[in-house]
Amino acid sequence: MRRIWWKEAVVYQVYPRSFMDSNGDGIGDLQGMIEKLDYIRQLGIDVIWICPMYQSPNDDNGYDISDYQAIMEDFGTMEDFDQLLEEVHKREMKLIIDLVINHTSDEHPWFIESRSSKDNEKHDWYIWRNPKEDRSEPNNWESIFSGPAWEFDEKNEQYYMHLFSTKQPDLNWENEEVREALYQMMNWWMDKGIDGFRVDAISHIKKLNGLPDLPNPDSLDYVPSFAGHMNQEGIHDFLHEMKQETFANYDVMTVGEANGVSVEGSDLWVSEEIGAFNMVFQFEHLDLWGKKTGGTLDLPSLKTTLTKWQKGLEGRGWNALFLENHDQPRSVSTWGNDKDYWKESAKALATMFFFMQGTPFIYQGQEIGMTNVKYPHISDYDDVSMKNFYRIQTEKGQSHEEIMEVIWEQGRDNSRTPMQWNKTAQAGFSTAKDTWLGVNRNYKKINVEKQLKEKDSILSHYQEMIQLRKTHDVLVYGQYDLTLPEHEHIYAYTRTLGDQQFLVLVNVFPVKTTFEHDLLKKANRVELLLVSGGKGKSHTKMQPYEARVYRV
Ligand code: GLC
Ligand code: CA
Repeated sequence: MRRIWWKEAVVYQVYPRSFMDSNGDGIGDLQGMIEKLDYIRQLGIDVIWICPMYQSPNDDNGYDISDYQAIMEDFGTMEDFDQLLEEVHKREMKLIIDLVINHTSDEHPWFIESRSSKDNEKHDWYIWRNPKEDRSEPNNWESIFSGPAWEFDEKNEQYYMHLFSTKQPDLNWENEEVREALYQMMNWWMDKGIDGFRVDAISHIKKLNGLPDLPNPDSLDYVPSFAGHMNQEGIHDFLHEMKQETFANYDVMTVGEANGVSVEGSDLWVSEEIGAFNMVFQFEHLDLWGKKTGGTLDLPSLKTTLTKWQKGLEGRGWNALFLENHDQPRSVSTWGNDKDYWKESAKALATMFFFMQGTPFIYQGQEIGMTNVKYPHISDYDDVSMKNFYRIQTEKGQSHEEIMEVIWEQGRDNSRTPMQWNKTAQAGFSTAKDTWLGVNRNYKKINVEKQLKEKDSILSHYQEMIQLRKTHDVLVYGQYDLTLPEHEHIYAYTRTLGDQQFLVLVNVFPVKTTFEHDLLKKANRVELLLVSGGKGKSHTKMQPYEARVYRV
């Protein structure tokens, strides 16, 4: 067992716009974040991942960067950033930043030059194509944010590609100068002393050769286009080169956002020998709840999927463990039960994912069980992808009610509402009358201050879990094995390292359940180290959403 700091770390993700507003303009900022570093530290966090804080016109909340070496005005200045980095380091934590290099903003000087004329040196830095004969888009690809993946530019009489919003033109990674400019920028940040990157949308940088139309059996206006740009052959040449030119020369932590990567093909992504990243966010477990599964958690598939990743990377690579982030609805609302079992289910889900092998990521507010929101009007929302969706579905004739149902259930703003610090106005997030996105109405019930005082709060459960993981190497480095594979309510697994063994048992349903486990039969030797949702007394029964961690 070789100790590696980023394997032992617990990461906390901050969405700066919603974390803490220091100057009363209704928008979170870097000074606000600095105010809350002690809070993050006392949770037991080692690494903070901050979502994009670069200069940006903010079409997609900072994922549309107009200057990679400046800070968004809403958030502060580069001095504020330097101070943040210093304050994080003072508290013996590390800071990783979001790296958005599949695309820039259309207001980035590179793009402004690129679109200025077909003869401009930087024209080829982005993906420009002539219209089809009927003047329509160069191909039938749909944007990930709805509508076509192309935008027409009158002056050049060409279309540029945008896999995300129209204000996020895709960079042309085939162009060597583009890659070099990006590497330089990355090295500049690492020389500044940041501790790593979360690399945005990185499985999309390589596009299918020739950008062909995709099959369209249903005669859609535009075809979901993942087959054209997700984890395409040839991507590893780019990733490998990027690593050699950047990360490989620093002691940093890297995690790639790798939609479409499967465990079978993960070697080049995350293996210790040849992987481009230390770990990746895989997406396979995210759809295992919801309409597709009849509104309940699909536990058999969840076990299969997560176990496949656990066993698949064992001894070769490393997992990034997560339930939530700024693109997903709140886990307690989707996978748990935010009504009758709010506290219990939040703790159960936490326990289930947290002790697997990998580095756990906690998204701000997850540690207090923040929930989804249901705002009545589309104007209450901010997310560009949902606003596009609303507009396009309305054009197609879907009703307001039908569209809002989808947004309430799946919308990204569910997890972007301001952090709930206390029971004062605006949940203590801001002194402004209006915040950039409305505060969840349940802030008096769900907030940090309250939970810091309560012994059995979700927050104290997270603290306990983090301490437990820090105390026992087996919870970091131990081998994962699924047990009770067929159980219909319980997710159970062991972690084993040398002669140390732990057992994690979690009932992830709102029902009482029964079980038998061989390891608990030698009852005098087992030690219950963590329990929630019940007392953990019975070795054959579990309460709804009960969770336990044993040393056996
Ligand atoms: C990633 C980010 C998401 C963003 C998109 C485009 O998926 O997590 O928030 O909108 O990339 O940059
Ligand atoms: Ca502010």
